[in-house]
Amino acid sequence: MDKMDELVSRATAAREKAYCPYSGFAVGAAVLTPDGRIFTGCNVENASYGLTNCAERTAVFKAISEGAREIVAVAVVAEGEPPPPCGACRQVLAEFGPRAEVVLASTTGERIRTSVDSLLPAAFRFKK
Ligand code: THU
Repeated sequence: MDKMDELVSRATAAREKAYCPYSGFAVGAAVLTPDGRIFTGCNVENASYGLTNCAERTAVFKAISEGAREIVAVAVVAEGEPPPPCGACRQVLAEFGPRAEVVLASTTGERIRTSVDSLLPAAFRFKK
């Protein structure tokens, strides 16, 4: 299986775990690290709405908290149109995978291939 197919498959499975009682919009994500590990995530909503964590950030934070420091590819899956990541997720993806490949996929099989750099050109970086 192609690595992006595998990521879409893992993101699709992660989407089943979404906690989205407020929006009803389930999202799954999967990120690939340079050593071949895959970390998955789903959106986790909150009664206060603003504390909601998107699927992409859940997956990235799982990867980083397990010791990863770089992401080379990302898949995001939702119902309807292939889901464009929100601005906050783009900035978080740019922190760890500025050159990462991205596949946005709908549950019906539609896919858009892009990259973190295309999704967030000229991302903010902190230089000491
Ligand atoms: N959501 C994601 O998980 N990823 C995105 O890129 C966009 C939005 C979630 C957040 C919220 O739980 C639901 O989708 C509706 O906005």
